[in-house]
Amino acid sequence: MTSVSQRDSFTGKYGFIAAAAGSAIGLGNIWKFPYITGVYGGSAFIIVYLICILLIGLPVMLSEITVGRRAQKGGFGAYKNLAPGTPWFFSGYMGIAAAFLILSFYGVVAGWTMEYVVKALTGAFSGKTPDEIGAMFGGFIGQTAKPIFWQIGFMSLTCFIVIAGIKNGIERYSKILMPVLLVILFFLCARSVTLDGAAKGFEFLFKPDFSKLSSEAVLAALGHAFFSLSLGMGTLVTYGSYVKKNESLGPLAVHITTADTIIALLAGIAIFPAVFAFGIEPAAGPGLVFVTLPNVFQQMPFGSFFCVLFFFLLAIAALTSSISILEVVVTHLVEDFRVSRKTATIVTTLVITLFGIPCSLSFGVMSEFKFLGANFFDNVDHIASNFLLPLGGLCISLFVGWKMARKDVEDELSNGGTLGTGYLTIFLFLAKIVAPIAITAVFLHGLNII
Ligand code: PHE
Repeated sequence: MTSVSQRDSFTGKYGFIAAAAGSAIGLGNIWKFPYITGVYGGSAFIIVYLICILLIGLPVMLSEITVGRRAQKGGFGAYKNLAPGTPWFFSGYMGIAAAFLILSFYGVVAGWTMEYVVKALTGAFSGKTPDEIGAMFGGFIGQTAKPIFWQIGFMSLTCFIVIAGIKNGIERYSKILMPVLLVILFFLCARSVTLDGAAKGFEFLFKPDFSKLSSEAVLAALGHAFFSLSLGMGTLVTYGSYVKKNESLGPLAVHITTADTIIALLAGIAIFPAVFAFGIEPAAGPGLVFVTLPNVFQQMPFGSFFCVLFFFLLAIAALTSSISILEVVVTHLVEDFRVSRKTATIVTTLVITLFGIPCSLSFGVMSEFKFLGANFFDNVDHIASNFLLPLGGLCISLFVGWKMARKDVEDELSNGGTLGTGYLTIFLFLAKIVAPIAITAVFLHGLNII
């Protein structure tokens, strides 16, 4: 590990925001958020999700960035540095496991977006009915070779970027590309909300019916808050360690959280009115976005062009997230096992890609291979997102709330006393009491214990 003085740092506030937002904004916002909102019944789920973001996600994010910058180390090293000789660093292992599991299915879905770029380019959707577009998706993911081919393609790209260390390059592009994605999302929203029959989608999104809310849904909302904000596995500890000492951490955390949440909500607004207008099943599952959006593009001027661009940008958004996930495992191998960066990256990518293959096959030849009622893909997602990430978040908030001295936290947030930190008391209250109790309660509730 390099010493503090040699440590690289982001070029000012926007470098960090771009990298952290690049990690946060990805398939979680545009693919997973609408799909699980559909599965868990809509608005009541969204309200619980927003509460989780505010009361748990935000303090956990600030805790991660604070610990990272204080320690000047990544996930494991930070705990070892700030609390030497204690077992806190064990939570780093959960982070590694989570990164491993998440990337294995993330690569599969990112592969689907690449296939959709090609489909859109070759005009595969034009003139097709919603049913035909649905069947096309089912047919594609049910195959054995093609989705795996794209998964391998996407994972190779992730691997290449992490080895070549051109993350800065890609972050620079994504600073330009992500606003374009945002603009397309706005257009999609505008088109979707003016479709005939869109009103039902609004009702689904904004008229809460708490009777539909199961304990499983509450656990999924919590898990997704962590997944979407890239929390609970050390990504933002590592990124935080590169933030310059003169940046104000509180506002940074608020900016990233806000941007991530707005994009997810926009994706919901782009999708649900169209889901109802086209008679698609809201609980259609992982295919929801892939089936709904090509239909909306068909109803737009220059739709095929926007469709290509959209899936291309979604693949880029997935890439800026996947590199941050792979980095968690690679950094650990490089720092703690002294493996070369290149070897660590290649081996990790290989193992994760292999583990991702049964995730891909879950929609085809392995669809009957079920455990606790769910396929392999869903189980991997469930264990990582709904258990490992919240547990990692529980550890970091307890660490900042109870283990670190208040004056150290204050020193870090106020940049050595030069900034006002009027929010310190409320932050510590959230990190010490609210977040840990809420996470524990949701776990117990999700397991039907309370
Ligand atoms: N936040 C990313 C997304 O929404 C996924 C991710 C999860 C990235 C955990 C890093 C850590 O797509």
